Amino acid sequence: MHFDERRAHFLQDRLQRRLKECQLDSFYSYYRLLISSEGKNELASLVENLTVNETSFFRNKAQLELFHKYILEDLLRQKQARRDYSLRIWSAGCSTGQEAYTLAMLVADGLGYYYLRNPLPMEMPSPKPLIPPPWKVEILASDISYSVLRAAQQGVYSETQMTSVDFSYRLRYFDKIGDRYAVKKALKEAIHFDFHNLKTEYLPQRNDVIFCRNVMMYFDEAEQKRLIDKFWRCLNPEGYMFVGHAESLLGLTEKFAMVHRNSGTAYKKIEVTE
Ligand SMILES: C[S@@+](CC[C@H](N)C(=O)[O-])C[C@H]1O[C@@H](n2cnc3c(N)ncnc32)[C@H](O)[C@@H]1O
Repeated sequence: MHFDERRAHFLQDRLQRRLKECQLDSFYSYYRLLISSEGKNELASLVENLTVNETSFFRNKAQLELFHKYILEDLLRQKQARRDYSLRIWSAGCSTGQEAYTLAMLVADGLGYYYLRNPLPMEMPSPKPLIPPPWKVEILASDISYSVLRAAQQGVYSETQMTSVDFSYRLRYFDKIGDRYAVKKALKEAIHFDFHNLKTEYLPQRNDVIFCRNVMMYFDEAEQKRLIDKFWRCLNPEGYMFVGHAESLLGLTEKFAMVHRNSGTAYKKIEVTE
């Protein structure tokens, strides 16, 4: 994790909270604890405290529209022509799951709409499944924090967290339980939650689209370049990548081409020999 001067105060504050929790009186004794074998759990707690987990459903609508209306449509057409009915999307740094569930809803709707206009390659079973066969959609949602992954897997959200989810999505994809909204089982089944530290070398391969939004901004430039390179290798040919509104791949890589429509931006993988 990279903390520049603007975030030094945040780092100090969070470290001080952990020192208090551990009843230690100096940063040095805390450091000794972290590097000791007894300090493993504390290191995990520290990581939980240092990550910024802010997220929301349907975050950055222009970008999601680009994904939904153009990129998904393009991928479905190309894949169907090759009789490849698998689609793999990765929400890297998924926090409490809203991004992954948003993508699952968009893909389910996108596939449904695509087959309103194109013949399905096989008969639709009854009752109609969320993902029409023979398609297999896998949405991988990963994070470095176990506590956000637990919340994501639970998929239960408050009214405040649901503000950006309009009523038609609420009706189709959520059950109201008391004053909270629980993601329906069928939608959950399209998502696989897992722990991945984006700084490690081996990351999930063969993705058609990677969403890594509002994560890289906390990395330094060298680490951002390394990560973009790893993402390039983790994408299928013709794959796409999305970064956050305040982030960009410009100046960091030559291996992606920018795609821009109606204020939504994505990056398409360019085939280059490494
Ligand atoms: C601000 S949230 C962004 C959530 C979501 N992508 C969005 O844009 O709404 C950043 C997430 O990245 C995760 N993260 C930070 N460093 C990471 C790393 N090295 N590997 C994996 N996840 C990381 C944090 O735990 C946090 O949940």
